[in-house]
Amino acid sequence: MSNVTVIGAQWGDEGKGKIIDWLSNRADMVVRFQGGNNAGHTIVVGDKTYKLSLLPSGVVQGKRSIIGNGVVVDPWSLLEEIAKVGAAGLTVTPDILVLAENATLVLPLHRELDALREEASSQKIGTTKRGIGPTYEDKVGRRAIRAIDLKDFASLPAKIDRLLAHHNVLRKGFGATEVDAGALLNQLKEIAPKIVPFLGSSWRELDAARKAGKRILFEGAQAVLLDIDHGTYPFVTSSNTVAGQAAAGAGVSPRAIGTVLGIVKSYTTRVGEGPFPTELKDATGEKLGERGHEFGTVTGRKRRCGWFDAVLVRQTCVTGGVDGICLTKLDVLDGFDEIKVCTGYQLDGQTLDYLPADANLQARLTPVYETLEGWKETTRGARSWAQLPANAIKYVRRVEELIGTPVSLLSTSPDRDDTITVQDPFVDR
Ligand code: GDP
Ligand code: IMO
Ligand code: MG
Repeated sequence: MSNVTVIGAQWGDEGKGKIIDWLSNRADMVVRFQGGNNAGHTIVVGDKTYKLSLLPSGVVQGKRSIIGNGVVVDPWSLLEEIAKVGAAGLTVTPDILVLAENATLVLPLHRELDALREEASSQKIGTTKRGIGPTYEDKVGRRAIRAIDLKDFASLPAKIDRLLAHHNVLRKGFGATEVDAGALLNQLKEIAPKIVPFLGSSWRELDAARKAGKRILFEGAQAVLLDIDHGTYPFVTSSNTVAGQAAAGAGVSPRAIGTVLGIVKSYTTRVGEGPFPTELKDATGEKLGERGHEFGTVTGRKRRCGWFDAVLVRQTCVTGGVDGICLTKLDVLDGFDEIKVCTGYQLDGQTLDYLPADANLQARLTPVYETLEGWKETTRGARSWAQLPANAIKYVRRVEELIGTPVSLLSTSPDRDDTITVQDPFVDR
């Protein structure tokens, strides 16, 4: 068995898309296992840029791609994305894409509720307003519409009634108009023939792949600090983003997820609200944002930026189950005179070496920094250790030491090929 699971080990946008695309060259299949179109995974190949939200990043290399049962799928958005990549020259047909029949559907009413809540709340989460939270709530509440339901028009009205019995009460409370059951039924009937051809069984596909000795790459979205259990609750997404979710969200044994690669940015960013101990609201933060082009892939929002937080990544490597990391965007640090790394927190006169679970305490942490010398040379586009300046190597080694997890890969530009292999994640450890 030589499978690989890729997850984000900070607050998202670490460069998972780039690395999954690069790794998918040697995989037979790529499987998304959670999240939805709140994700934005960028893949740059030469002069072409693909921004994927629901499609597994394997589609760029034409790999068999599965949207697992753990994903929440907005069917209209999925079709739009297929059309968009189609216009860019990538044909996604049921020959390469399988949508798990037991995946949950995101409906317009979920997007609306997400937006209504964000607008009404005095304590905003800063969601992507894609309806992700409300859909996972309905899944757990056992009233959701699933992909397979698009095959059975006879049973749909009863399922819609059950769903609307919940939602129309909520909508009334928000002063929104009620959803008409007949109109929703018609919308679903209209989209069904375009979605049904993609339906299949994630667990059966993967079981057959395992028996045939195929290599599977599991693609995570979001990141451990956005995990519903292990993240900075309540400023999180509504799914488990840790590696263990790959098994539940795809229908495989926990032993089948293989080597877990955590993607880690060489500094820290976050989109949306919530605590961020190393956030820089000064010229240095601006510089990181400009150099790293830190604008959200999905919403276009400016990402908050700060120094690398080794305390957080040490913790997410443990809670996320990470075996090795890929350190991305090293090139963004080129030219800084000095680079800081957070090695602990001060809180009420005490030093902490972990992130406390209480959001109020998280908001009051003062980072303790270690300062490293920067480098003047460029690392952009480097493809081997030998091309890295001595201080860049020192930085990477120090990060590795502080987080207690080895660096398996390094990324030095958005381009697929600007990647340095230290330890191949596809080789069994
Ligand atoms: P994801 O959500 O983890 O897939 O990451 P996003 O695609 O949302 O954001 C990462 C951004 O950084 C994208 O614009 C990538 O093209 C870009 N990127 C990835 N790796 C590198 C790198 O090593 N250097 C630079 N400069 N940009 C990178
Ligand atoms: P990728 O896969 C960064 C953030 C949102 C918000 C919180 C909850 O591209 O790394 P949601 O819409 O999920 O209910 O929003 O989570 N968020 C992300 N931040 N990258 C992502 O995905 C994200 N997906 C959600 O900004 O703070
Ligand atoms: Mg992203």
